Amino acid sequence: MGPKIFKALKYGTPVLFLLAAAWIIWAPPARIGYAPVQPIDYRHDIHAGAIGQKTFDGKEQYGIDCQYCHTGVTTSKKAGVPSMNTCMNCHILVGSSLPGVKTLKKFYAEKKAVEWVRIHNVPDHVRFPHAPHIKQLLKEGQPTKTACIACHGDVSSMKVVEQKESLNMGFCVNCHRDYRNDVEYKKHGVSTTCNTCHY
Ligand code: HEC
Ligand code: HEC
Ligand code: HEC
Ligand code: HEC
Ligand code: HEC
Repeated sequence: MGPKIFKALKYGTPVLFLLAAAWIIWAPPARIGYAPVQPIDYRHDIHAGAIGQKTFDGKEQYGIDCQYCHTGVTTSKKAGVPSMNTCMNCHILVGSSLPGVKTLKKFYAEKKAVEWVRIHNVPDHVRFPHAPHIKQLLKEGQPTKTACIACHGDVSSMKVVEQKESLNMGFCVNCHRDYRNDVEYKKHGVSTTCNTCHY
């Protein structure tokens, strides 16, 4: 029995090791399609969709810039999710008869913070800062939303936010490699070394 175990270890260990490595790089896109129900039926399509176009169900769109609510995207690590006060800038006056706005106002009146369900997440050992990405991806004169599409899809057309990309290591490294190989960006020093993204 003894030698058999050694044989199993000898041939089995490298196979397990390769499987583990493959898992890490191409972790299954289990989170693609994750679109949890939120405490308030806030809709990105109505608020941030292009002005002049209608949502899929025929509602007016208001073209609010992503940065009006996600204020951190060019300045900090976190994009941030807006506070109730940001919503109330408009909803003190607008949409009072709509059920979702009624729920919002109820939270506001009771001074209860809205606990939005988090959708996109990287593990604690991964460093992901928004600001350097957005500054780089946002070309002069473009609307903010064009810089979000690579990682979040076109949120401005979503009724409910849904994760569109795996955000696994292969996804991150591929784009870094593309940039590193791009002549125009060579001098930028986009890095693929481990400690760029890992603490
Ligand atoms: C009026 C405020 C407002 C505007 C404008 C806005 N958002 Fe949001 N965003 C929110 C709120 C509130 C949430 C949390 C609830 C949710 O997920 O729908 C959120 C959530 C998100 C999330 C998911 C965060 C997570 O938990 O992973 C992404 C991604 C996002 N927004 C991107 C965008 C993009 C891109 C734009 C511009 C096209 C935009 N948002 C415009 C208010 C806003
Ligand atoms: C810049 C102005 C503005 C801000 C800021 C804003 N909204 Fe709105 N919101 C609107 C307008 C305009 C409508 C459409 C009203 C209508 O159809 O009569 C709307 C509609 C809504 C609706 C109803 C959607 C439906 O199903 O028809 C909800 C719910 C809502 N907003 C929640 C929020 C929340 C939560 C925030 C903060 C994260 C927020 N809004 C921030 C302008 C704003
Ligand atoms: C290069 C990829 C990438 C781009 C581009 C990007 N994001 Fe993100 N975003 C992420 C990742 C990864 C997370 C999860 C971060 C974490 O877990 O710390 C995230 C999280 C978020 C969150 C959740 C709250 C937070 O602050 O972490 C919001 C909101 C958000 N992004 C909005 C945006 C908006 C708006 C844009 C465009 C201006 C944008 N993102 C562009 C990758 C990206
Ligand atoms: C769409 C392409 C793209 C994707 C996808 C992408 N990155 Fe980047 N990343 C860049 C570029 C371009 C830079 C260089 C920014 C600059 O000019 O400093 C960068 C820089 C970084 C930096 C260094 C920031 C600093 O402090 O200077 C980190 C850390 C990073 N990325 C982590 C990640 C992680 C983690 C992911 C996956 C969740 C990811 N990136 C996905 C393009 C991308
Ligand atoms: C461009 C950013 C980036 C670079 C560079 C990078 N990683 Fe990662 N790595 C990630 C992300 C993002 C994850 C999380 C994947 C997920 O959630 O599926 C990850 C996950 C991992 C894990 C899995 C841990 C777990 O939770 O299962 C290991 C191990 C790892 N990386 C090692 C490395 C090594 C070794 C290198 C250098 C050869 C490296 N990484 C370079 C972004 C990066």
